[in-house]
Amino acid sequence: MYRDRDCGEITISDIGKKMRLSGWVFRRRDHGGLIFIDLRDRSGIIQIVFSPDVSGDVHKLAHNLRSEYVITISGIVRKRPEGTENINLKTGEVEIYADELVILNKSIALPFQVEESVDTSEFLKLKYRYLDLRRPETQTNLIIRHKTASSIRNYLNSKNFLEIETPMLTKSTPEGARDFLVPSRLNPGSFYALPQSPQIFKQILMISGLERYYQIVRCFRDEDLRADRQPEFTQVDLEMSFVDIDDIIDLTEGMLTTTFRDVIGLNLDKGFPRLSYKEVMDRFGTDKPDMRFGMELAVLSDLAGKSSFKVFLDALSLGGVVKGFSAKGLAGMSRKEIDLLTQEAQSYGAKGLGWIRVKGSFDSPIVKFFPDEILRSIADRLNAEEGDMMLFIADKEDVANSILSKLRIELAKRLNLIKDQFKFLWVTDFPLLQWNEEESRFEAVHHPFTSPSDKDIDKILSGQINLTGKSTDLENLKAKSYDIVLNGYEIGGGSIRIHSGELQRRLFEILRIDKDEAEKKFGFLIDALNYGAPPHGGIALGFDRIVMLMVGAQSIRDVIAFPKTQKGQCLLSGAPSEVDYKQLRELYIKSTIVTV
Ligand code: AMO
Ligand code: AMP
Repeated sequence: MYRDRDCGEITISDIGKKMRLSGWVFRRRDHGGLIFIDLRDRSGIIQIVFSPDVSGDVHKLAHNLRSEYVITISGIVRKRPEGTENINLKTGEVEIYADELVILNKSIALPFQVEESVDTSEFLKLKYRYLDLRRPETQTNLIIRHKTASSIRNYLNSKNFLEIETPMLTKSTPEGARDFLVPSRLNPGSFYALPQSPQIFKQILMISGLERYYQIVRCFRDEDLRADRQPEFTQVDLEMSFVDIDDIIDLTEGMLTTTFRDVIGLNLDKGFPRLSYKEVMDRFGTDKPDMRFGMELAVLSDLAGKSSFKVFLDALSLGGVVKGFSAKGLAGMSRKEIDLLTQEAQSYGAKGLGWIRVKGSFDSPIVKFFPDEILRSIADRLNAEEGDMMLFIADKEDVANSILSKLRIELAKRLNLIKDQFKFLWVTDFPLLQWNEEESRFEAVHHPFTSPSDKDIDKILSGQINLTGKSTDLENLKAKSYDIVLNGYEIGGGSIRIHSGELQRRLFEILRIDKDEAEKKFGFLIDALNYGAPPHGGIALGFDRIVMLMVGAQSIRDVIAFPKTQKGQCLLSGAPSEVDYKQLRELYIKSTIVTV
């Protein structure tokens, strides 16, 4: 028998009881006479005392204990002497005087101390992931991940959803990243693609009449990695029949509010704000704004046009914009600090950074180019107050937005403006299409199965609009798609789909995906649409990102048991790795590495 109870559960109500516990030696303090260890299992830590007065033999054996040895002890639970309690520990009021000790396994010298691994290099932590995962903090992250998945499943099951698995060895899906390919031994020269999402299969399930599908599912995308991106990640993927946008939004809000309450005890109000794509771009310069603080951007082109500042006028005459925001309380910045901030803006792609201090009067070398009333109007529009610093970027709209949205976040961090809270929002009314300059054609903003808005469907089908070239008619089409954003992260996205074969064919024409290509890539979906497809739509949530935000981690790596590095490597297993010549031959593959 290894244990009566878990270490972290022992409390004052157990005083006087004999307990047998098992776990790892976490910390160890040898005070000559007495030896103290913190015994750790998944549930927590408890202090064990080895005293020669209880058992000379056991005390002697305890001298051999080292970090991460696996042991079983038994002994009587005692109240800790007054003044030695540890209020940070659940078990901090008690300790166990051991009268028995069994060393179940030893550990060789550790590459890092488990309790100190916060400060250990990422490389060592990932190579010895099993040691890093012994830390209570990393275990907590995985426990919260489990509870989140479990709560989501309960919620969706209660709403009559079916959990259905879809293939991992499949065809390329249209999420826009590069595919991971798997060669087929039985079909020489042919490859499976690992799914970027179950998009097409979940639509097929709706056409099959399953009505409500979900899956907590692994997706694979070969793209550049960042703190919130892994090559394999997990989606909460769902699809529903006979629904429109409001139904999906309502269900998703119900699911998220229930899960946040179940898992971290947070009571969120349903009815998350909904902003159009245009509005978030104007006000925040990004489609995933962090709404936990102000410092909103404003378009100033009309006012800047009334100045004689050449930098601004030149940008406007080239079709650009002047936008800015008011940095709270930064009027005291020195010229040197402003130069550093300008360099930072330049690292985001800025040509320069305009600035005006609001300090009694308006103070900047550029104020001489602005009439007084224009300066006041600019300050009004930026909600600038005494002590603020107004910052401006004149450039093409997308460039100005990208720079200002980054500066807004950076300065909010420095100014400690970001509150510890959860601010959800929906972004809706996305454009359906975006122009791809390189390929000189439109592409889908979400994916090619996304439905245009109701009034745009009529326009497309009736042929009222110009479908050729970079037509503004096409640019103005709106999609029935939506993203959900939490604290500056895109945590999900979805759409109402096209359910008419005719409309889907038109869309492929607009996207200049020709019949053969469409047939080859998504033929099975296009065929299926012709056999009575119901109206349907869905969403996929980035499960890793949600858990990361729930636990307050900085990277999704912290909430994934076995994550990959920036270069897509698993340092623990050594993947990816070379394979035998024989294995390649079985796959009819001859490998030469082409260096580019
Ligand atoms: P989308 O491509 O927007 O939509 O993906 C949905 C959500 O998945 C998360 N995500 C990622 N998380 C970690 N690492 C990645 N590499 C990564 N890529 C995406 C994001 C994102 O919002 N089939 C559609 C959904 C639909 O239309 O129903 C889809 O996959 O949080
Ligand atoms: P210059 O005329 O280049 O010396 O620039 C005068 C001021 O305008 C400096 O503070 C520059 O940083 C700023 N500036 C230059 N280009 C831009 C731009 N594209 N947007 C905003 N400010 C700019």
